[in-house]
Amino acid sequence: MTKPTECPAWKDLQHLSAEFKHEHFKLTKLFEKSNRFSDFSISHDNLLFDYSKNYVTTESLTALIQLATEMQLPEAIDAMFSGKEINNTEECSAWHTALRIPETENSHNEVVNCLQKMDSFVTSLYSGSWLGFSGEKIKDVVNIGIGGSDLGPSFAYDALSDYSTGKLKLHLVSNLDPTDLDSVTEKLNPATTLFIITSKSFSTPETIQNAETAKSWLLTWAKSSAAVKSHFVGVTANSIAARKFGLAEGNLFPMWDWIGGRYSLWSAAGLPIALSIGMDNFRKLLSGAHSMDEHFKNSDLINNIPVIMGLLSVFYSNFLEAHSHAVIPYSQKLQKLPAYLQQLCMESLGKCVTKNGEPVTTKTGNVLWGAAGTNAQHSFFQLLHQGTEFIPVDLIAFIKSTSKGEKAELRHIKLLANCLGQSLSLMKGSNFSSNPHKTVSGNKPSNTLLIRELNPYNLGSLVALYEHKTYVQSVIWNINAFDQWGVELGKSHAEQLVGVLKTNSVNLELDDSTKGLLNRIQEAIPGRTKH
Ligand code: F6P
Repeated sequence: MTKPTECPAWKDLQHLSAEFKHEHFKLTKLFEKSNRFSDFSISHDNLLFDYSKNYVTTESLTALIQLATEMQLPEAIDAMFSGKEINNTEECSAWHTALRIPETENSHNEVVNCLQKMDSFVTSLYSGSWLGFSGEKIKDVVNIGIGGSDLGPSFAYDALSDYSTGKLKLHLVSNLDPTDLDSVTEKLNPATTLFIITSKSFSTPETIQNAETAKSWLLTWAKSSAAVKSHFVGVTANSIAARKFGLAEGNLFPMWDWIGGRYSLWSAAGLPIALSIGMDNFRKLLSGAHSMDEHFKNSDLINNIPVIMGLLSVFYSNFLEAHSHAVIPYSQKLQKLPAYLQQLCMESLGKCVTKNGEPVTTKTGNVLWGAAGTNAQHSFFQLLHQGTEFIPVDLIAFIKSTSKGEKAELRHIKLLANCLGQSLSLMKGSNFSSNPHKTVSGNKPSNTLLIRELNPYNLGSLVALYEHKTYVQSVIWNINAFDQWGVELGKSHAEQLVGVLKTNSVNLELDDSTKGLLNRIQEAIPGRTKH
């Protein structure tokens, strides 16, 4: 089946969704049937997925599973794990799961070799055997990359800061805005700084510009291009461009066309994470992800966490008109999770044609957003509770606190109580019949992901869960989750306009707005003429 809307199960779901749209529908009523929690929750490893506070009944769940079967989800899961060319527009597989297979069982030699190379690199920096150009030990490492070459490492680096070995100071630079790199380098000593240039393509303008600037900064100090070898390494699939930039062959870590940028934190793109937490913990991150891979590959659809999460999101988008999805981690350390998931979900699912290039017949990816709880409760939760938008929510909490501070356990209990309290309020609301301003309608669905503790293994499982959830949605919509052609357009326009601003010439057929804006910039630069 190539169109979900033509599946028999789609018609069933249209019919079944009517119950949820009825003005008297109450989410709380679904709990009148006993065992709702055990019927609508799944545990895997250290993670409990409670989806009982959702618009879901045994009948609608059966129809969703039927839809997944009709859209050949089991076959699509097999295709991903066996390295089939599922990224059809770029003619490659999407084999990030191969990066997480334990080394002793992994037949991908290039993956095993890369892990070993990462291991020696981390050891050489930790032991101080890697020396800078003037013979000093490296103290600061700056990762330069953007999108998938930044968001994953940056989010995981923060999330696992409790596991930091403290042996090196890590910095992550991504933005073309000069203040990003400059604010980092102004505090650093080139003699003790090492840069990692992470770019699968080695052609992303932001990364190349920042890498060039970093190189000039180093050379201003070293006064010899021989210094580059001691202060720059690269992670890339384009070794030709990397060597042209000046990176030594031995300082290159591989990427492969079969790993998408936003699925790459498990590869050498994860070097900043490995340098922060050490290789043993990096391997635990991989094994947590592998455990989720096994769950996704081997569990029946009905007992499969990523499958159910993905199907519920499809149901809300396509049958109940949800335009967005909020993710609220009740963990300060996971405050960058929403930004990371934005790229994962929105770059993967923001597609308007099917894998065969035909217009889709239904809505696809929607807006993912969020922030850490409890802070989010005091900013946008009001809209979740009483606004007119219907927004399903994922709440993520860890049972154990990572803090060792004063009465940390008690303080953490309060955090957990807030997480559960919000899912309860979203569902139940409150009825002040005498005062409409105080009335909260409730009926707002949420998933709760309750995880034993925040550690590398569990974080790996959580991220892999969202990767697979995203894949499930893409299979139901029959879209390619692994390309991102839309992003290329903005890059080419930016390149044209850099030319205009640099040369002060307009030889493009520009619209009035763009011309007006260019003129305002030119006016502010001394010696420039208006067009
Ligand atoms: O944002 C577009 C994108 O192509 C992402 O998919 C990718 O993660 C990012 O740019 C960086 O790409 P690269 O690693 O090739 O520099």
